[in-house]
Amino acid sequence: MSKQLILALSKGRILDETLPLLADAGITPVEDLGKSRKLLFDTNLPDVKLVVIRATDVPTYVQLGAADLGVAGKDVLLEHGVEGLYEPLDLEIARCRLMTAGITGAEPARARRRVATKFVNVARRYYAEQGIQAEVIKLYGAMELAPLMNLADEIVDIVDTGNTLRANGMEPRELIAPISTRLVVNKAAMTMKHDRLKPLIARLREAVAARR
Ligand code: ATP
Ligand code: PRP
Ligand code: MG
Repeated sequence: MSKQLILALSKGRILDETLPLLADAGITPVEDLGKSRKLLFDTNLPDVKLVVIRATDVPTYVQLGAADLGVAGKDVLLEHGVEGLYEPLDLEIARCRLMTAGITGAEPARARRRVATKFVNVARRYYAEQGIQAEVIKLYGAMELAPLMNLADEIVDIVDTGNTLRANGMEPRELIAPISTRLVVNKAAMTMKHDRLKPLIARLREAVAARR
């Protein structure tokens, strides 16, 4: 294993909050990530490189050791599973809630509830734990549309302000999990590259604490 560290970042809304935190911890990309079509970036630290990938791909990269560490939403980790990963640090950014939601005022009518979500594993687990029979329907986005179109009785999705739900005549129902962004580390790398990872994690931990 090379002594170089690859850090996988989730692109999209998490990235906007991750970069200032990394800067506070002394890690800055040498070029503007937003302005480039590149996916692999050098940083001011000669042994640290960044890859910027789909949020849902981060656990895979880190689990399989293509990246040594990564930044991922807890929602993505709950859905993907955390085999081969350590989760040493809550970065306390992109806070939101994973919830069930349905049409405002509507009672869940049928015995076997139809649930539309991109979080199919989380949803199956949650409804099973509640003892509710559910048919989980996989969608890739715009879950809020599914009950309106009578594709589903409920959805499982991220809720922050609740504006998206309200704008579509829906209401939040049950909290499944509070969500924030986490640092994850490949388990083998944590042993093999411990000398390098330990101070890096410590600096990130200090940067998070300094913001409280
Ligand atoms: P893609 O476009 O690749 O499907 P996405 O919609 O999952 O991606 P983003 O919305 O950029 O990507 O970011 C998703 C992550 O950001 C989630 O995994 C969650 O942790 C966090 N997140 C999503 N929605 C919100 C929100 N409304 N407020 C705060 N954090 C959120
Ligand atoms: C996310 C999420 C919800 C919305 C919740 O969507 O999927 O739709 O935010 O936030 P709110 O409670 O503050 O309205 P996002 O904006 O990421 O759009 P996307 O569908 O493109 O992922
Ligand atoms: Mg989104």
